[in-house]
Amino acid sequence: MVGIGFGTWAWGNQLLWGYNPDLDDSVLESTFQQAVAGGLCLVDTADSYGTGFLNGRSEELLGRFLSAMQPEHRAQLTVATKLAPFPWRLGRRGLVNAFLASQRRLHGCMDRVQLHWSTARYAPWQERPLLDGLADLVEQGAVREIGLSNVGPRRLTLLHRHLKDRGIPLASVQVQFSLLAPGPRQHGGILDISRDLGVDVLAYSPLALGVLARGPGWTPQGLTPLRTGLFRRLLPASESLRQTMVSIAEARGVSQVQVALNWCRSHGTCPIPGLRRPSQVMDAQQALTWSLSADERTQLDQSSAEVMVRMPDNPLQSA
Ligand SMILES: NC(=O)c1ccc[n+]([C@@H]2O[C@H](COP(=O)([O-])OP(=O)(O)OC[C@H]3O[C@@H](n4cnc5c(N)ncnc54)[C@H](OP(=O)(O)O)[C@@H]3O)[C@@H](O)[C@H]2O)c1
Repeated sequence: MVGIGFGTWAWGNQLLWGYNPDLDDSVLESTFQQAVAGGLCLVDTADSYGTGFLNGRSEELLGRFLSAMQPEHRAQLTVATKLAPFPWRLGRRGLVNAFLASQRRLHGCMDRVQLHWSTARYAPWQERPLLDGLADLVEQGAVREIGLSNVGPRRLTLLHRHLKDRGIPLASVQVQFSLLAPGPRQHGGILDISRDLGVDVLAYSPLALGVLARGPGWTPQGLTPLRTGLFRRLLPASESLRQTMVSIAEARGVSQVQVALNWCRSHGTCPIPGLRRPSQVMDAQQALTWSLSADERTQLDQSSAEVMVRMPDNPLQSA
């Protein structure tokens, strides 16, 4: 059974996640320590995480926490960042400066570099050179592994082949996948192709930004306006799904979040929930101690398929 990682989009993001450095940083440090001590296997960040003047904050915090870690714990954690192929980052060396800046913020603790999205939809001629630039970094020994993000089956197949021709393995592909974003489960979709190619799938937003963590009847409170808008659309539409999740959780004596994470794992993906409190980490860790039965998975598949309003697709997702 695949493991569970965690994500750090919220670490530094005021707009969507309401980050407050004075209140949050010490809690984030305890969250990180708890996650590592309890066996979460991978941490995901990005050079674009952190809003406005806080850009890069997620990597900075992570770098600070990582450099205080015991080497034996560090060895068990994969640190993966994503570099954004912004329009001004051009050509084979277009991501090199961004890579070096991420390495600095992460205090040199980076295992995997991922292309945050493919430029296939608006600058297709940039896709290969940018990826080749990341592959060069692996060849030079500057970073161990390479990953993709927000690509579909077609691009995954093409880019995997391109890297293979260069002798560089592709470690992972990261896509939105949850009970409220079940698209990747489609037959012949990215999950099937990744399995055939031997590429790990990281399921991002596995809790639909927290919607799937809320019980039936919950109404939005204490969230940022952006998140409130999303919750107002998704909560009513997912009432019956969340009831199914609660029924399974209660029968097993586990939490609703654990059901959401183990549904991702039951489809062969490694969920990377966004975590920002030690209690959330402990909940995620509990999910590692059990797995869904085939019947529970079918119930959840069906209930998920009946939801009429889904998580919005990432606009940078390519086919
Ligand atoms: N590649 C990409 O383009 C991309 C896009 C999006 C995300 N990601 C990655 O995926 C990670 C996760 O996705 P996400 O942050 O969008 O959202 P998510 O994992 O779907 O939801 C995270 C939120 O769920 C709530 N939660 C988590 N554990 C909980 C628990 N045990 N009990 C109750 N509530 C809990 C928390 O909300 P509260 O703190 O409000 O309670 C948390 O902030 C990101 O951090 C990022 O690393 C990648």
